Amino acid sequence: MTSDPDQQIVRTADLVRRFGRVRALDGATIGVPHGCTGLLGPNGAGKSTLIKVLLGLLKPDRGEAYVAGYDVARQPRALRAVVGYMPEHDCLPNDWLAQDFVRHMAELHGLPARAAIQRASDTLYHVGLGEERFRAIGGFSTGMKQRVKLAQALVHDPRLMLLDEPTNGLDPAGRDEMLALIGRTAHEMGIDVILSSHLLADVESVADSVVILSGGRVLAQGALRELMTATPAITVRTQQDAASLAAALRARGYAVAADGPRELRVDYRSDDSYDAIRDAAVETDTGLVLLKRRVLSLEDVYLSDQEPSPPAPLPTAGEGSTARALSAGEGSTARALSAGEGSTARALSKAKGSAALTPSMGATA
Ligand SMILES: Nc1ncnc2c1ncn2[C@@H]1O[C@H](COP(=O)(O)OP(=O)(O)OP(=O)(O)O)[C@@H](O)[C@H]1O
Ligand SMILES: [Mg+2]
Repeated sequence: MTSDPDQQIVRTADLVRRFGRVRALDGATIGVPHGCTGLLGPNGAGKSTLIKVLLGLLKPDRGEAYVAGYDVARQPRALRAVVGYMPEHDCLPNDWLAQDFVRHMAELHGLPARAAIQRASDTLYHVGLGEERFRAIGGFSTGMKQRVKLAQALVHDPRLMLLDEPTNGLDPAGRDEMLALIGRTAHEMGIDVILSSHLLADVESVADSVVILSGGRVLAQGALRELMTATPAITVRTQQDAASLAAALRARGYAVAADGPRELRVDYRSDDSYDAIRDAAVETDTGLVLLKRRVLSLEDVYLSDQEPSPPAPLPTAGEGSTARALSAGEGSTARALSAGEGSTARALSKAKGSAALTPSMGATA
């Protein structure tokens, strides 16, 4: 695998990292474009593990990772020179002055003493701690400590900052300020940022793109705007058991998830998908009761995965993430119904004439 740093700041292939029996990363393949990217996932999703692997602090059991074009396994020094890291947990020396700590971190990154002093001051001003920089960190509020952590990640002018839960412990106002500061840093200073959070709102407010992790797997990734708009699927309700219809659709290359014995969700590719469903229904002699286009938003994909026991998808021919997305989204029915209305009529007219269709379909769709 190669990575073109002009295209993507981070690229991984099939990363696996185990801790005993836990797979903190379970085959994570991601591509992160330049700009500000949210790494979104519930507690235990593998966010911190991924960040540590990207920093070369943890070795993966399997897979590869490239950051800013550097191979994490083979070029760790070169990599660390261009990356800033804000750890998740409190790790600041309480009896140090903020200025001294940030200057010290600049020197560790190789800046000469005089330049380190200047950069530490500039960076602390940038994060809003200019006036307080000669105070001991131990007397700082949580918000101020988070800013010190951000400053030390920024002081050596990195190409990429990896920020692990930068809004942790902040009240709503502090959270907004921190996110605005991160947004300014990314967009005005041209530094790529990956920030982890378990809050969709954090990511929505500042990121251009998103990677959603759960259980060490990638649920979805891509430009935030596109993912917010939708992951379309077709709900198929049948008269009889839908298992043979599901098998016939999978044989045609469709990802299919079962919502119940008589209900399937099939990935929507184009209007040809309706023909494929009709043909598979005829082939398996399955009566169709309902065909309905539904739209899953990023929120559906993410939030549904945090439900206590999401419905298990059947094995699919497609990607695992697609199957998860398709099996998710129960809570979004109202929105999905309204979003999908336009295409229902077309589905009906396209499906007309199929022996498998029943009169009740028109009434329910
Ligand atoms: N050093 C470790 N030893 C044992 N298990 C670990 C270790 N680090 C992580 N894990 C486990 O790996 C999984 C992923 O953990 P990780 O910290 O990467 O998740 P996270 O998404 O950062 O969660 P959080 O939102 O709580 O910070 C969890 O089940 C966690 O318990
Ligand atoms: Mg974490």
